[in-house]
Amino acid sequence: MRLNPRIEDWTGRVVWLVGASTGIGRATASRLHALGATVIVSARTALALESFVAEHAGAHALPLDVTDRDAVRAAAGQIVEAHGRIDLAVYCAGTYRPLRATQFDLDVALQHQQVNYVGALHLLDAVLPVLLRQGAGHLSLLGSVAGYRGLPQALAYGPTKAALINLAEVLYMDLHPRGIGVSLVNPGFVETPLTAQNAFHMPALITPEEAAEAIVRGWSQGRFEIHFPKRFTLWLKLLSHLGDALYFKAVRRATGL
Ligand SMILES: NC(=O)c1ccc[n+]([C@@H]2O[C@H](COP(=O)([O-])OP(=O)(O)OC[C@H]3O[C@@H](n4cnc5c(N)ncnc54)[C@H](OP(=O)(O)O)[C@@H]3O)[C@@H](O)[C@H]2O)c1
Repeated sequence: MRLNPRIEDWTGRVVWLVGASTGIGRATASRLHALGATVIVSARTALALESFVAEHAGAHALPLDVTDRDAVRAAAGQIVEAHGRIDLAVYCAGTYRPLRATQFDLDVALQHQQVNYVGALHLLDAVLPVLLRQGAGHLSLLGSVAGYRGLPQALAYGPTKAALINLAEVLYMDLHPRGIGVSLVNPGFVETPLTAQNAFHMPALITPEEAAEAIVRGWSQGRFEIHFPKRFTLWLKLLSHLGDALYFKAVRRATGL
């Protein structure tokens, strides 16, 4: 269902992807560049961003750490100064380490909160004034199906993704009436540095390029939630609607954890 203005023509659109040195962010940046957008990529690893720029003529790199609110705000200012506007801001920065209650590590949990959630708030702080002033544009947050309900090993990661899902819904209600699109991207398993550490079999694993294609299609269809691959995410959605006892039992049976 169409909940956002469709984005079909990318020519000259100013798009900023935060967390685009690798994985889904980088692949999506590459796809948008191929479609004619003016692409700005951010992340901490300046070298990786420079290699993206070298491979994508006309793209720009703004290295930053999302946990540094001033750096995120300064980067948004630089974009507006150079390009006059922001048509799409995408929050792809994320970190993941398996964590269980039996080996709780506060530093790991807080690191996830800072990168996955607080960093998104820093992006909001930087771009909301720009989008509201424009009365147009689009904000997209990378959540995860791990935010639907609790999953094993996701003690640090899952709650940050649940928070992003809720955040995107609240943002939608405030920004949609003002002509600003808001979308939430919930991928299943994608083959990236983030999932490379998973020792278990990842069902319905897709490439970052396939993820990028699904994301761009979702924006072009004006979707709010963009989830993929459907053969996996629809199953998880069904599971998430089960009563508590059935849900815990089904997850335990499926994962063996
Ligand atoms: N892969 C999956 O299966 C999957 C599934 C569901 C959701 N997701 C979500 O999709 C998003 C992208 O993940 P991915 O799989 O593409 O992982 P990835 O390849 O590891 O990408 C993560 C990106 O975040 C950046 N980043 C991490 N910490 C940062 C920081 N402090 N400041 C700035 N940038 C930072 C990384 O760049 P630097 O290290 O250079 O800073 C990198 O560009 C994440 O939000 C992830 O949770 C992934």
